[in-house]
Amino acid sequence: MIYFDNAATSWPKPPGVIEAMVHFMEKVGANPGRSGHWLSVEAGRIVYNAREAVAELFNAPDPLRVVFGHNATEALNLALRGLLRPGDHVITSSMEHNSVMRPLRALEQQGVEVTVVQCSPEGFLDPADVEAAVRPNTAMIALNHASNVVGTLLPVAEVGRIARRHGLLLLLDAAQTGGAYPIDVQADGIDLLGFTGHKSLYGPMGTGGLVIGERVDVARMEPLKWGGTGSRSELEEQPDFLPDMCESGTSNAVGLAGLEAGVRWVLERGVETIRAHEVELAQRLIGGLRNIPSTGSGRRSGVTVYGGLDANRQIATVSFNITGMEPSEVGLRLDEKYGIMCRVGQLAQEAR
Ligand SMILES: Cc1ncc(COP(=O)(O)O)c(C=O)c1O
Repeated sequence: MIYFDNAATSWPKPPGVIEAMVHFMEKVGANPGRSGHWLSVEAGRIVYNAREAVAELFNAPDPLRVVFGHNATEALNLALRGLLRPGDHVITSSMEHNSVMRPLRALEQQGVEVTVVQCSPEGFLDPADVEAAVRPNTAMIALNHASNVVGTLLPVAEVGRIARRHGLLLLLDAAQTGGAYPIDVQADGIDLLGFTGHKSLYGPMGTGGLVIGERVDVARMEPLKWGGTGSRSELEEQPDFLPDMCESGTSNAVGLAGLEAGVRWVLERGVETIRAHEVELAQRLIGGLRNIPSTGSGRRSGVTVYGGLDANRQIATVSFNITGMEPSEVGLRLDEKYGIMCRVGQLAQEAR
């Protein structure tokens, strides 16, 4: 069996991830930061260690600016819904995942203006097109770091410089790149980084979060939900400090124990080493698929590989199809006949 669906969720997980979660369930189990007894303190320490590991991986200015949630979707919603107001303008790209596009379309209904900058047919973004879209009321640029469809990397450092030049916030969707591609939020000018725990950070599902940079005015930020935080319980109002103001309700502490172990596994190997390995694998796959000879004309005549066809300019997500076949049929045959598990996409209308 070959599991080729790591862009959806990574599997299997490093053994340390499972051990950390079993340890939490068997030996700790208490609610972090809610009570004074030592088990609760220990649970709080485990959650804080996860914050520290994530902060180290992304070079966040402070572990307390790492807000945990259930996944990248929640983190991206927090950044967009928490900071954009009617009358604000936001720039995004045509390569966004629905976890950015759908909140933006919903915010548009409430008076937020949205510009979608078109990427090239191969999936690349020209930073000059982003700069040309800046308006006097632009508040934010929301960018996918790497396409979940064709894998192409978008120019985060260049867009970060544009954001700084115009005084805009840069929100990066790092769901596909966190742990698989080097990210330094301070050097790259990233103000908000949405990450998910269950892909290249090797944590369990139900973990993720938002790194909030120092240029973000937290006093202006609305949480997604209000409620118990274990801090300032005497107040009926929400605490106004990070991470508590954005982390209402009992956290997924067992998941965060696993996430910490996953991130430590990545840190031990080194993101650069993981990246070099993935470039090698992706180049082999792209080359191998492109070398499959055509079997004739018309139906089922050959393999098309989409994207930039250069592993150095993409992550290890490779997208291809066989002429004349529905992607779902290709996926089913790979699974049933060869034990290869992959994600199937949709055929563009014009390719049918
Ligand atoms: C680019 C991108 N953004 C966001 C998400 C959402 O991640 P999650 O499902 O963990 O919220 C995904 C998941 O596939 C993704 O690929």
